[in-house]
Amino acid sequence: MKLDIEQDRLAAELDALGAISQEPLPVVTRVVFTEADVEARNFVKKLCQEAGLAVREDAVGNTFARWMGENPDLEPVATGSHIDAIPHAGRFDGTVGVLGALEAIRALMRADYRPHRCIELVIFTSEEPTRFGIGCLGSRLLTGRLDPETAGAMKDRDGVSLDDARWAAGFEASLASVPLAPGYYAAFVELHIEQGPLLERHNVPIGVVTAIAAPASLRIVIQGEGGHAGAVLMPDRHDAFLAAAEIALAVEQAAQSSGSIDTVGTTGVCDVFPGAVNSVPSRVRMEIDVRDIDEDRRDAALHKIKLACEEIANRRGVQTNLEIVNADSPAHCDPRVLEALIESCKIHNLPFERMISRAYHDSLFMSRIAPTAMLFIPCRNGVSHRPDEYASPEAMAQGALALAETLAHLAAI
Ligand code: GLV
Ligand code: MN
Ligand code: MN
Repeated sequence: MKLDIEQDRLAAELDALGAISQEPLPVVTRVVFTEADVEARNFVKKLCQEAGLAVREDAVGNTFARWMGENPDLEPVATGSHIDAIPHAGRFDGTVGVLGALEAIRALMRADYRPHRCIELVIFTSEEPTRFGIGCLGSRLLTGRLDPETAGAMKDRDGVSLDDARWAAGFEASLASVPLAPGYYAAFVELHIEQGPLLERHNVPIGVVTAIAAPASLRIVIQGEGGHAGAVLMPDRHDAFLAAAEIALAVEQAAQSSGSIDTVGTTGVCDVFPGAVNSVPSRVRMEIDVRDIDEDRRDAALHKIKLACEEIANRRGVQTNLEIVNADSPAHCDPRVLEALIESCKIHNLPFERMISRAYHDSLFMSRIAPTAMLFIPCRNGVSHRPDEYASPEAMAQGALALAETLAHLAAI
């Protein structure tokens, strides 16, 4: 089969999608169910329809674009990723796995390949945790890893519930209708930028992902005592921000002291109330991200952070409320899907190396219900979650080529 990836078209579509942003280019911010997110969904759905795919959406906005196979009774083969983007991000995170997959499907169509199984492109809602504080919202619900009732009631920072936000965006059915049965898909493969430096450093075009690290996140609210920045004497203070500052250092320490470079800890959100230069901070809300490929070691780091919180709160006379938002297990990719991926790289003379994913992806959850694997392509300097994130058209085309061949293998059996 002769597969031609239309590299310039894929790059142009990525540029056009990147321009749909809540901020001027090169900054991409596309938070779930904002106007930009809805516009981006419409852009991608139109491309899918133009390619002849049948599009449907579920109650949380997960979008499914299906290419009918010759035997539609068999479980479909799926691919896909996300199009939402964290604040101040770039154009390639997630989107390469959506538009690259669409181009892979179009390349198979142009090659007159006829799939035995249906091939389905899935665009997952809110892989990023920005709005509701939890990552992989759509794929968690889809795979039954998040209770629909709890999910519907989750609120964003402005107090808007997920139910209200999705209804406003036009997704009105019950969230209870979202989960798919285990075994619904025969296989799932996700294409993504590496978001790390290894492929570029090694000059290797394809990363074959064998496992995905275990993510966890914490929300900590610290209640101290506010007051006048001039008048409250230093020995009398219970400054919530200073407690938060110590907790952030304890997060760093917990990760650094784990004994492995694979443990990482980040305090990415620290909202200070009331946020006035002449007022002692009375309340702080922190969001903390902790990950490791080893779940026990990740949990040990979480435990250290919890103990540090208690000690800091006692010493500083503040109260802390620590909530574990999520603590997920790692994913191990499926040997049969990995084999198809490796075979496809060999057919097209694409050098590859095996690697783990330190970032999480919707594949983490898809692996709970389907044999799953991922492939990475290099991105410049390993940069991601920044406006200067970049993957070359050539790199994207190589990823789409390997993906197309893999889908062809998986959908033929
Ligand atoms: C996904 O964006 C992650 O934070 O790993
Ligand atoms: Mn991301
Ligand atoms: Mn991503």
